[in-house]
Amino acid sequence: MSRPILFLALTGQFALAQTPPTGEADYQVNCIACHQIDTKTGGPSLVAIAETYPKEKEAEFLAWAKAPGKKDLALIEMPSMAHVPDDALIRIHDYILTVTTDKKEQKSKPQFPQFREPHRKLPYVVHCFLPDTSPASLGVVLPGNLTLCWDTESCRVSYVWHNSKTNLANGMWLGKLSSKPFYRETGEAFFSLAEKPTYLGFRLIEGYPEFHYRIGETEVRDLIRNGSTADTWQRTFTLTNPPAKFSLNLAHEGSVTITSDKGKFTGDVLTLTGDEAKSFTLTFSKP
Ligand code: HEC
Repeated sequence: MSRPILFLALTGQFALAQTPPTGEADYQVNCIACHQIDTKTGGPSLVAIAETYPKEKEAEFLAWAKAPGKKDLALIEMPSMAHVPDDALIRIHDYILTVTTDKKEQKSKPQFPQFREPHRKLPYVVHCFLPDTSPASLGVVLPGNLTLCWDTESCRVSYVWHNSKTNLANGMWLGKLSSKPFYRETGEAFFSLAEKPTYLGFRLIEGYPEFHYRIGETEVRDLIRNGSTADTWQRTFTLTNPPAKFSLNLAHEGSVTITSDKGKFTGDVLTLTGDEAKSFTLTFSKP
């Protein structure tokens, strides 16, 4: 009864032993994920490897495969192939030398398209991720050297900094600013209105953004523009349905002088009548 079973098992083993191991198969199991024949991908191409390791450098090839070093800083570190037996590594080496005969390395496409600074007309508004503000912030890049971070969540300016380059792009994640912000709004609430602002969007007026938001019954339009000098910016507020008496808390960090064409300042707080609040302009100047 047991004979046929034994017979089958034997033929099975025989069949396996008849397929001789090939360097190509070993390469496909162990190396293909990172090494392509004639293009540089995760690791160098087989063409490049064959150039560095001709037949007489077999020992060095094995040494590298078992304990890889670090040569190309732009690539990941190659994991050790010490689990692959020497005879398999030698077969892989022979396969590499054979398969690359008469082959040249193809120019590979860059993995990431190179970042080029966009040629942009100033001013412009970008949706990018800026540090120390809500993720829903926008960058307002003004002519001159000023960039404002406008937070659409709190509907106010988080900070202003000198951005020497027009390097902000949509979707970009900026881990660090090119210079420390020199102005930051610190008052707990910017408007003396009880409700939280709801952001409604912005439109561009000659390239300058006019932000639009609602606080309770009051609708606010906040147009940001350059002032008369490179380090000056202006915000023109247009309020629909303002309360009879209304104030803005302009407390801030940084030596910036703020003036208003309407209303009265008491310290950092600007108070306006409902009529004045319909339209007024603040000027921010850095000395
Ligand atoms: C997970 C990816 C990965 C796998 C799998 C891999 N390698 Fe590599 N290999 C690399 C990287 C990355 C480099 C380039 C390292 C550097 O230059 O710092 C490299 C470089 C090499 C080099 C060139 C060394 C030199 O001196 O320039 C050889 C040879 C090599 N690998 C052989 C192999 C062999 C053989 C296998 C399979 C048994 C294999 N690699 C599997 C990633 C890999």
